[in-house]
Amino acid sequence: MEKPIRLQKFLASAGVASRRKAEEYIARGRVKVDGKVITAMGQQIIPGKQKVLFDNREVTPEEKTVYILLNKPRGYVTTLSDPQGRPIVSSLLRGVRERVFPVGRLDLDTEGALLLTNDGALAQSILHPSNEVHKTYEATVRGVPSPNSLRSLEKGIILEKKKTAPARLRIKRKYKQNCVVIITIHEGRKRQVKKMFQAVGHPVQSLKRLAYGRLGLSNLEPGEFRFLQQNDIKKIFSKKSPLQTKK
Ligand code: URA
Repeated sequence: MEKPIRLQKFLASAGVASRRKAEEYIARGRVKVDGKVITAMGQQIIPGKQKVLFDNREVTPEEKTVYILLNKPRGYVTTLSDPQGRPIVSSLLRGVRERVFPVGRLDLDTEGALLLTNDGALAQSILHPSNEVHKTYEATVRGVPSPNSLRSLEKGIILEKKKTAPARLRIKRKYKQNCVVIITIHEGRKRQVKKMFQAVGHPVQSLKRLAYGRLGLSNLEPGEFRFLQQNDIKKIFSKKSPLQTKK
C-alpha cells in the first residue's frame, strides 16, 4: 500500500508549486481532499487513494520531471494566470505538456533567465536561502556609482530594516548618463536589485538576469527556451560567477 505523505509534499511532487508555495495555497483554502477544504498544515494523504483538488482541478502525480530555462521577455508576468489579462510566461512554452511553474519571479519589466519546472523539491532547494543560489544580473543604472557606493552594496546595506547579504558588483560599461553594472546576489527579496541601486541613488533603468550560478542564457533570444539536463542543474548551484570576471 502507498505510504501517507504530507499534503504539501504531494502537491509539490505533482508539480503544482514549490512546497513553500503549496503551503500558502493550502492555508488560503485552495486545496480540497476528498471533497473537503483543508487549511491545516499537518494533513497527510495517501496518493492514488484520495482525491486531491487544487482550484477545483484534480491533481495527479506527474510522471516525468522537466526543467526549462526560458529567456523571459519584458512585458510578461511570471505567473500561470493573470487576472489583468497580461501576457504570461507559460504561454511561451509551446509544446510543453507538463504542468511547470516558475521558480521564483522576475518583475514585469525584467527580462532574462527564468527556470520553470514541475519538480517541487528542486524548486524548493533553489529558493531556500540556506543554499545561497547565486543570481547574476545586468543592470543599467542612472549615473555611475562611486567606488564607495559599490563597496557598500557589496558589503550589504539596510533594506527594509534588514541588511542585504554580501554581493559582487562590477561596472561593465560607462556612458555619459548611465552605466551597465553586473551584480551577483544570493538572496531573493522582492525587487531586490532595484531597491539596492535605488538606495544608493542610482535607479535601475533596465534589468536582465544573466544566470543562475554558472547556468547562463547562452544564445537564447527573448521568448526562447530550452530543456535542461542534469549537468545544467549542477551549474545552478555553482558559486563561481564567470560573468563577474569576463571583459
Ligand atoms: N531584482 C529586481 O529588482 N527585479 C527582478 O525582477 C529581479 C531581481
